[in-house]
Amino acid sequence: MSLELKHVSHIYQEGSAKESYALRDICLNVNEGEFLGIAGHTGSGKSTLIQHFNGLLKPTSGEVIVDGVNINGKEAKKELKVLRMQVGIVFQYPEYQLFEETVERDIAFGPRNLNLSDIEIQHRVTEAMDMLKLSKKMRKKSPFELSGGQKRKIAIAGVLAMKPKYLILDEPTAGLDPKGREEFLELIADLHQQGLTVVMVSHSMDDIARYAQRMIVLEHGEIRLEGTPQAVFAQSELLDQIGLGVPTLTRLLIELQKQGWDVRTDLFHPTDVSQEILRALSKREQRKGADLC
Ligand SMILES: Nc1ncnc2c1ncn2[C@@H]1O[C@H](COP(=O)(O)OP(=O)(O)OP(=O)(O)O)[C@@H](O)[C@H]1O
Ligand SMILES: [Mg+2]
Repeated sequence: MSLELKHVSHIYQEGSAKESYALRDICLNVNEGEFLGIAGHTGSGKSTLIQHFNGLLKPTSGEVIVDGVNINGKEAKKELKVLRMQVGIVFQYPEYQLFEETVERDIAFGPRNLNLSDIEIQHRVTEAMDMLKLSKKMRKKSPFELSGGQKRKIAIAGVLAMKPKYLILDEPTAGLDPKGREEFLELIADLHQQGLTVVMVSHSMDDIARYAQRMIVLEHGEIRLEGTPQAVFAQSELLDQIGLGVPTLTRLLIELQKQGWDVRTDLFHPTDVSQEILRALSKREQRKGADLC
């Protein structure tokens, strides 16, 4: 089972003087269970792309296949609601969409529209709050009394309460401080561990490098690069041309390599990078010792 874009193009305001191509001939498979990162400069088409996954936007040409069904095709009509539920999209700054009086009512909003029993709705709210490590005390609070990061968790819990198979997040850490950012990314990694397929749009190469198993880079509505973060970030010159660059720690390793250090440049985790530098340092010291003898 997977999400699939087959030759998807999207033109905004087609036929008008303002017509513009936002996506061109995108072919992409998101496999069940994976963590895919989507990078690209501002206006490259990231948000347009993800809105195709649950039918919010329709392709101008091409097909969107969710678990084997073309969601814009005739055969999907009956199943569309079910198919859409499989794909949970968390938009940028989702906290602005909270509107209910209490946290639990806000999280329950989606499930309530599915005509589920009260017991099932309560169960889903509890489960979604647990997944995001939200305390039970918060249930009766007004979402507006909470901090920005907490509000964002409530909004994500609302999406999780629909029990999606695919969780798509558009810039989930935008505007958070470094600690909040880290906490959020760990939560998302946790959800992935628990079996959700995750697609994360991010401007941060560091975040994608550390968490994604595979990534794509969009430029002017086209996929310019695709592969593991190791493979993509090995193309540092191309990424510089696109204006994206590589993760901070990769830049450090590339700089050390340029200065003659024998280091790998395909590591992203601080622990791995520090170990690599220490290894290269001790090798240097050994060589210096041998030269002296
Ligand atoms: N509703 C719209 N009507 C017309 N053009 C649009 C609309 N939404 C986006 N666009 C255009 O489509 C292109 C892609 O926009 P999109 O929002 O998908 O980019 P993005 O990669 O998500 O950018 P950002 O990183 O700033 O969020 C841009 O040129 C943008 O101006
Ligand atoms: Mg966007």
